[in-house]
Amino acid sequence: MGLLIRGGEIVTAETRTHGDILIEGETIREIGPGLTAPVGTEVIDATGMLIFPGFIDPHVHIHLPFMATFAKDTHATASKAGLIGGTTTFIEMVCPSRNEDALEGYHTWKQKAEGNSACDYAFHMTVSRYDEKTESQLREIVADGTASFKIFLSYKNFFGVTDEEMFQTLKLAASLGVITTAHCENAELVGQLQQQLLVEGKIGSEWHEPSRPEGVEAEGTTRFATFLEQTGATGYVVHLSCAPALRAAIEAKLRGVKLYVESVLPHFLLNKTYAEQAGVEGMKYVMSPPLRHERNQPVLWHALQAGIIDTVGTDHCPFDTEQKLLGTKAFTQIPNGIPGLEDRVNLMYTYGVKRGGLDIHRFVDALSTKAAKIFGLYPRKGAIDVGSDADLVIYDPEYRGRISAKTQHTNNDYNGFEGVEIEGRPWVVTVRGKVQVRDGVFVGDPGRGQMLKRKPQYVRQTEEVRVMVHAD
Ligand code: URP
Ligand code: ZN
Ligand code: ZN
Repeated sequence: MGLLIRGGEIVTAETRTHGDILIEGETIREIGPGLTAPVGTEVIDATGMLIFPGFIDPHVHIHLPFMATFAKDTHATASKAGLIGGTTTFIEMVCPSRNEDALEGYHTWKQKAEGNSACDYAFHMTVSRYDEKTESQLREIVADGTASFKIFLSYKNFFGVTDEEMFQTLKLAASLGVITTAHCENAELVGQLQQQLLVEGKIGSEWHEPSRPEGVEAEGTTRFATFLEQTGATGYVVHLSCAPALRAAIEAKLRGVKLYVESVLPHFLLNKTYAEQAGVEGMKYVMSPPLRHERNQPVLWHALQAGIIDTVGTDHCPFDTEQKLLGTKAFTQIPNGIPGLEDRVNLMYTYGVKRGGLDIHRFVDALSTKAAKIFGLYPRKGAIDVGSDADLVIYDPEYRGRISAKTQHTNNDYNGFEGVEIEGRPWVVTVRGKVQVRDGVFVGDPGRGQMLKRKPQYVRQTEEVRVMVHAD
């Protein structure tokens, strides 16, 4: 059965128009005013609603063995939560540790997701060690449709790579045309600062930020960019949190380094005082890079508006209260991470578009279209065009509510945005033409999601390429 969405206001990264959308099967068939519904087509009256392309979260953790425990969500819980919040595609980090086999890890993650996700998904492949098997394994993984890597400059001896391994990974990525995403913090400095603080008896969550100060992130960003420059690879900084790191990224962009920047929901709305609360309340807000001094927030918002921050993800990574309490005796043992998948769209719409003056097209771009372009999903995803997948978010801008752990779908016993007002929410959400959410409630097929296979798309950045771009 087809679907006709009638009378909504279609808002994309470029345009805003009133019109109808006719869906046939899994794709958009026609867009225009006054379309007629073929026999058997369901008609949804979207008068007064905004229609966005399905949102894409480029940075989530679902299956994640980390810090002596596992992140709480399953693909079933996370994908439903995402859909209710308007996210129709997520890209999950496959994160085998340094002691695991990369290819086995890749298959574990794939198996966990297959048949269990209500929305579409793709993967970034973490390279946590580089040995004699790595190149052939990564070639196999890329050939399987996972055309982006992830490296951690932090988390020494667990996920973290050495500079030598980063160089090898980026050289291979450049030759394959694959983009590499990176968590940019200096692992050595973090380790030294953590030990120093603990020796001084500074064990509470308020010491997490001082153990990974802004300069440590800026150094990681600069080093990653320098390695990109020398290898000709294309890079993407994940969860950038502060002005000095942003400056480092801008410096690199100005030198012609092919580098994209992602920031994530918590850094736009929360600051380090949340992690400075006593006991488990503070622990709930421990993530890396840490929540920063509030002076960074206007800088992030302005960079987002200007397109210097390319995308907004979540780094969704839920640990519950009991898990957070693993760090009672030392902040270094608090599982790092906070959920956000369900709330990203509503919070960025409310505090960006409605209350912050963020241009609505930049909002769509940063939360959907740009991620699709960077990660090889466009125009199948991130667009409302004839032939694109019919992933649509029919958004009710008149809805008023508050975020609460009591009503959330993410598998966690708290929400870092508890009580925060939202102005707007997804009313109907479709995944490849099927209604998965109606009136804010999941009504769909829990196994509808498919793995999205992607192709490498990046040209090696030689000096000649940089000069050509400069000449354009
Ligand atoms: O604190 C965080 N960010 N947890 C998830 C792992 C990571 O660094 O992305
Ligand atoms: Zn990270
Ligand atoms: Zn992450």
